[in-house]
Amino acid sequence: MNTQLRLARRPSGEATVDDFSVTQETLPTPGEGEVLVRSHYISIDPSSRTHWNDGESYRAMVAIGGIVDVGVAGEVIESRHPGFSAGDMVVGGVGVQEYGAVPGDSLTKCDLSIAPLTSWLGGLGITGLTAYFGLLDVGDPKPGETVVVTAASGAVGMVAGQIARIKGARAVGLAGSDEKCRFVTEELGFDAAVNYKSDELYRDLKEATPKRIDVIFDNVGGPLLDTLFRRLGMHARIVVCGATSQYNNDRIYGPTNYLALATMRARMEGFIIFDYADRYEAARTEMAGWLKDGSLKLRENIVDGTVEDYPNVLHRLYQGENTGKMLMRLPAAGA
Ligand SMILES: NC(=O)c1ccc[n+]([C@@H]2O[C@H](COP(=O)([O-])OP(=O)(O)OC[C@H]3O[C@@H](n4cnc5c(N)ncnc54)[C@H](OP(=O)(O)O)[C@@H]3O)[C@@H](O)[C@H]2O)c1
Repeated sequence: MNTQLRLARRPSGEATVDDFSVTQETLPTPGEGEVLVRSHYISIDPSSRTHWNDGESYRAMVAIGGIVDVGVAGEVIESRHPGFSAGDMVVGGVGVQEYGAVPGDSLTKCDLSIAPLTSWLGGLGITGLTAYFGLLDVGDPKPGETVVVTAASGAVGMVAGQIARIKGARAVGLAGSDEKCRFVTEELGFDAAVNYKSDELYRDLKEATPKRIDVIFDNVGGPLLDTLFRRLGMHARIVVCGATSQYNNDRIYGPTNYLALATMRARMEGFIIFDYADRYEAARTEMAGWLKDGSLKLRENIVDGTVEDYPNVLHRLYQGENTGKMLMRLPAAGA
């Protein structure tokens, strides 16, 4: 049997267990061109919440009764696609379920000699690629510039800050605890970090950015972004990667200090990672080189659970409990 998590209703505010239902069905049979995957790790992403609303987004909303649609790393059990064989390890959009029959063309085969399976959902997966393209293509940091990254100890943020340093920029991370700040400076090599929950946030930020800010790589939005606007440098670039602080709100808090864009001749630009799909392979090759020479370090925060536990694990992410890429390990991975 296959256990699945389905969206039972559209959540109001943060999603709770009551917004989902757990179903059991017989194992799916892959059709022509499809692959049957057994899920080992479920990706825990703040943006998943934005796909359970009514309305429009850059991808289809999950229908009521639909399987909760997230990235998974797992093992090929049966393949009807020429590119995959039983036993291959893959990542793709299988969703929160123990098994899924999905189009082979939507899966990526994982070379475990480069990095463990978990990193193919994290640093070498969508989150790492998001940091790579958002920072380099949109932020375009120059050597010596100051790059500020919000949610710096998280999956995307930790990679963005390290790439900024690899490219010769000064990386300053913002995170929600002193322990996370120590992680980004001492373990990841950021030049400075600021605990954004400090009573003296602006003072600490000013101290950490003596030459003001050239690039903001923003993952959280909200009032914190407003504070960062006060430290913009001339011709700064603000990369709108995400707004985790707003995803559970019915009304999005937008920037109020936006006139700083005019004063500082600055640019604010968003992006969606899927637009870069034809460059993923080249980016992964470069990132694999950084992993090998030690200039890029990855951290996964793995929580054991079953399909039913997904809403509670996502809640922990929203509580800021993760350091690094948060994943839920299903019993199949431990076998
Ligand atoms: N544009 C794209 O194509 C694209 C693709 C993938 C991801 N993203 C975005 O990238 C961002 C980071 O995603 P991720 O997977 O790396 O998550 P993450 O940063 O690993 O985890 C979320 C972190 O956000 C912080 N947070 C949680 N609630 C918050 C709140 N209310 N206010 C401020 N901070 C809060 C917490 O860190 P602290 O403890 O430090 O607060 C938490 O650890 C998200 O906004 C996501 O939507 C964008």
